[in-house]
Amino acid sequence: MTIIVTGGAGFIGSNFVLYMLKNYSEDRIICLDKLTYAGNLSTLQSVMDHPNFRFVKADICDRETVYQVFEEEKPNIVVNFAAESHVDRSIEDPGIFLQTNVMGTAVLMDACRKYGIQRYHQVSTDEVYGDLPLDRPDLFFTETTPLHTSSPYSASKASADLLVMAYYRTYELPATISRCSNNYGPYHFPEKLIPLMIINALSDKPLPVYGKGLNVRDWLYVEDHCRAIDLIIHKGKTGEVYNVGGHNEWRNIDIVKLICKELGKPENLITYVTDRKGHDMRYAIDPTKIHDELGWLPETKFEDGIQKTIQWYLSHLEWWSEIISGAYQGYYERMYGDR
Ligand code: NAD
Ligand code: DAU
Repeated sequence: MTIIVTGGAGFIGSNFVLYMLKNYSEDRIICLDKLTYAGNLSTLQSVMDHPNFRFVKADICDRETVYQVFEEEKPNIVVNFAAESHVDRSIEDPGIFLQTNVMGTAVLMDACRKYGIQRYHQVSTDEVYGDLPLDRPDLFFTETTPLHTSSPYSASKASADLLVMAYYRTYELPATISRCSNNYGPYHFPEKLIPLMIINALSDKPLPVYGKGLNVRDWLYVEDHCRAIDLIIHKGKTGEVYNVGGHNEWRNIDIVKLICKELGKPENLITYVTDRKGHDMRYAIDPTKIHDELGWLPETKFEDGIQKTIQWYLSHLEWWSEIISGAYQGYYERMYGDR
């Protein structure tokens, strides 16, 4: 099998590349990534010379280059992680979110139609369902919950999902979609809640909690998400959506306090700041379908996963300090400019 993984230099995509190379020694993995501010090639350093791995620096919106890669590699499967992924940035500047998340998805699916494919998988998000009220803990997102988006980011992801379903119906593109809850784990970019709080706490900097910190997110260890996608691309039914989540809801403030406790830092580092515009209150996934149909269950308990994650940031200071200093952005040129 040849598998194109787009966005494989980002947080979840890189975990997926490493997971696939470890678990499928016969498969060839092609990582296609534009290396935006969120893509970090040093994350993939350990596999750059792996005989079954190829890295291509390219934009999924660049039709000509994408078609060329398909022509050369004749992929069996495409897994699309490439996206602008940060809600706060989408509120600042929605345009690039529409470009990459919607138009880029269309280009990839056109390439799949042109060259033929066994499976196109779209990595989507629980944010397409909008949010749930705090006073209804009995409510969860299922695959039939209507799309109801709040931010330009989630609207762009929902638009892409609609386009995927349209290509499935109109062109019979063999496509699947997964909608996962919040991931955490190694290589999480330090603009997101958990790594930002760990890194700020380590440097005794203020911990900026939006609003009152009462918003709830449903956290899943990234490797469990990778296993879910593995099952979907190999055993999932085309035309289907699979929700992925581990029933692990936490209020933001409690996550931040837990990080302070684990790091032995005082809670008076916590600073309440102006709330995010349109801030979703609660996300909560019902994962019954992927459990019943594909046998998926999360394997990492949150108490273990958060400790592993904190330990990972403590032992990978170089990885995140290069990001914070911006030095990682020159990495591609330094390492691969003359290659
Ligand atoms: P990320 O921001 O860490 O990584 C995104 C990657 O995509 C980067 O390597 C970036 O360089 C690349 N990229 C961006 N624009 C591109 C383009 N035009 N062409 C090629 N590559 C491009 O994101 P992430 O958190 O790893 O999320 C990956 C996917 O999973 C996204 O589609 C996101 O919507 C989805 N998702 C994320 C979460 C989460 O908690 N992080 C949860 C559910 C779903
Ligand atoms: O639910 C899946 C989504 O999870 C993915 O689709 C997105 O790509 C991913 O970024 C994530 O979105 P969130 O907005 O939930 O994640 P973020 O880490 O930005 O924020 C988590 C919560 O913490 C949210 O309620 C906002 C809050 N927050 C975040 C930051 C960065 C703070 O209170 N302070 C902060 O500094």
